[in-house]
Amino acid sequence: MLHDLFHWMQNEWGVEHTVYGRSFSQALLESLNAWGLLEGTHLLMLMLFFGTILMVDLRLLGVAFKEQPVSVISNKILKLTVFSMVVVMVTGVVLFFSKPEEYWHNIWFRTKLVLLAVAIINVAVFHKLVQKNQAEWDSAPKPPSKARISAIISIASWVAVIGCGRLIAYNWFECGKPQPAWVNSAQGCAISSKGAMDMDAVTGTAAGVDLPPETPAETPPAEAPAAEAPATQPEAK
Ligand code: HEM
Repeated sequence: MLHDLFHWMQNEWGVEHTVYGRSFSQALLESLNAWGLLEGTHLLMLMLFFGTILMVDLRLLGVAFKEQPVSVISNKILKLTVFSMVVVMVTGVVLFFSKPEEYWHNIWFRTKLVLLAVAIINVAVFHKLVQKNQAEWDSAPKPPSKARISAIISIASWVAVIGCGRLIAYNWFECGKPQPAWVNSAQGCAISSKGAMDMDAVTGTAAGVDLPPETPAETPPAEAPAAEAPATQPEAK
């Protein structure tokens, strides 16, 4: 269902409106500057985003800015966090639009979305539950364990999102390559345009086991041209 939508977006949407009959997605991907500017903006803004998040998390862990109440640190930088998050999300969605079908079947992209959900849920839990009695520990050099756990989950999940974002660009696990069945299934290769190729089917062995030695060279055809006949003496009559 989503595959069909993304396939249509990537290959068909807009072909009649663009030069050279490309889809809107292909036109964006092949544009001279737009894609690069988008990716650059995505990257720069996520640095600002993660930088501000890290400042608050380090304060929650009781590692940095201990002499300042948590609320002072977070109130000062919250606007920057929200602004950079909005820009990262918007540029991310537009980047996705440039190759929706490929990204949709990319294991790093899928993992990134799952981790993004984990990170966002952690923010929600922090605001709803952890911050409920913030007044009691706001000025404590070392906030309570629930605040510190939340900070650790936050740092770990955002670092993992950034790592997966970086890895999207590599085609190590591209659909259509021989690879373990769980990789094919995790990224939905069977319904992608490139198809799924199971490593077991290719090698005849369990995934992860060394490839068998090369198949022996083909045996020469049975009716190979005879080697030069040896010179024979004419029979004496
Ligand atoms: C705070 C949230 C996000 C973070 C931390 C993040 C992180 C990253 C990173 C580190 C890169 C690699 C940049 C580079 O190497 O130049 C990247 C690229 C990308 N991101 Fe995000 N991203 C976020 C949100 C999103 C969202 C919401 C989407 C789309 C739904 C998205 C889609 C993409 C795409 C399509 C690429 C380009 C991959 C490529 O072909 O190189 N990102 N992201």
